[in-house]
Amino acid sequence: MRILGIETSADETSVSIVENGTKILSNVVSSSMELHDRTGGIIPEIAAREQVKLILPVLDASLQDAHVSSVSQIDAIAVTIGPGLIGSLLVGVETAKTLSYLYDKPLIPINHIFAHIYANWLNKDKEPEFPALALVVSGGHTELFLLTSHTEWKWIGGTVDDAAGEAFDKTSRLMGFGYPGGPIIASHAKEWNHLKENNHIHLPRPMIGSKDLNFSFSGLKTAVMREVKKLQDADQFNTRAVQELSYELQETITDVLVKKTIAASKEHSVYSVLLGGGVSANQRLKEKLTKAFQETSVRVFIPEPKLCTDNGASIACMAYYHNTPVSWRDVQARPDFEVEV
Ligand code: KG4
Ligand code: ZN
Repeated sequence: MRILGIETSADETSVSIVENGTKILSNVVSSSMELHDRTGGIIPEIAAREQVKLILPVLDASLQDAHVSSVSQIDAIAVTIGPGLIGSLLVGVETAKTLSYLYDKPLIPINHIFAHIYANWLNKDKEPEFPALALVVSGGHTELFLLTSHTEWKWIGGTVDDAAGEAFDKTSRLMGFGYPGGPIIASHAKEWNHLKENNHIHLPRPMIGSKDLNFSFSGLKTAVMREVKKLQDADQFNTRAVQELSYELQETITDVLVKKTIAASKEHSVYSVLLGGGVSANQRLKEKLTKAFQETSVRVFIPEPKLCTDNGASIACMAYYHNTPVSWRDVQARPDFEVEV
């Protein structure tokens, strides 16, 4: 079964074709990130206008890459209906509805936060085993889910304020850097010689000791702002300071994420841990999480970098396992689509 997946929830415009929920035949992702880098973040109206221009060329490229001559050769169409920016979502949703009507194909609406988890079924020789714990870490979400099967999901924890990706994005901006913040902070952190005697900055690990499975990242922005101000006042806000601050910030965020993931995995005796969302592309998080479960029977799944951030392949993959088509007339963009299940 070949499913065409469309994803336009934020700054990516992506169309992919996936066979039987695992094999990627094409995955075209076009990003307007450079544009947003210039403005320090996503400006919704600008993002949507860009996506209107991109969607058809991206669709054509995706069909071509998969050696599919027309949408008529596709079995079903899947599309992100939320959560996300309304203008951006509409571009994908209206495209999907039109294709479904024109070619008379089933249309499967997808929640893109859940779809991030499905990147772990793509291009893998071994499938994740249930029960599984999923940690979704993106620009707008930090959520822990317990999956006992493809259809039985339970939300077991999440952020009470900012998301992990948001913490990277906001601190990058306040240090004078661009968007998205995660890869920028990670590259500065990598340059830091993190010998103990070199480290002077210590950021608080919010909620690391709390008994629940929740997170809080908004205080980090204030803590970083305070450090930046202190350094600026002492005329020491230089390359070294940026590297150290980036290193400590990355350590803080990844420490908290890993600690809560370990706690949740023990509490629910899972066989697999699945990572998903843009922040899963973070090398340090991957290292720490892999190491944490090395000596255990729990298998850790982390998508390849291109499948961590928003992409149509994860949408098509999830639709294969949640194949519940809806008439195109009833499909609507839902910017605030709930993730608590
Ligand atoms: O999943 P995603 O592409 O879009 C949303 O659904 O939000 O995630 C984007 C987020 C941004 O906050 C970005 O800074 C973060 O993922 N990100 C990273 C890395 N690559 C992207 N964070 C840390 N390290 C990275 N390498
Ligand atoms: Zn996302």
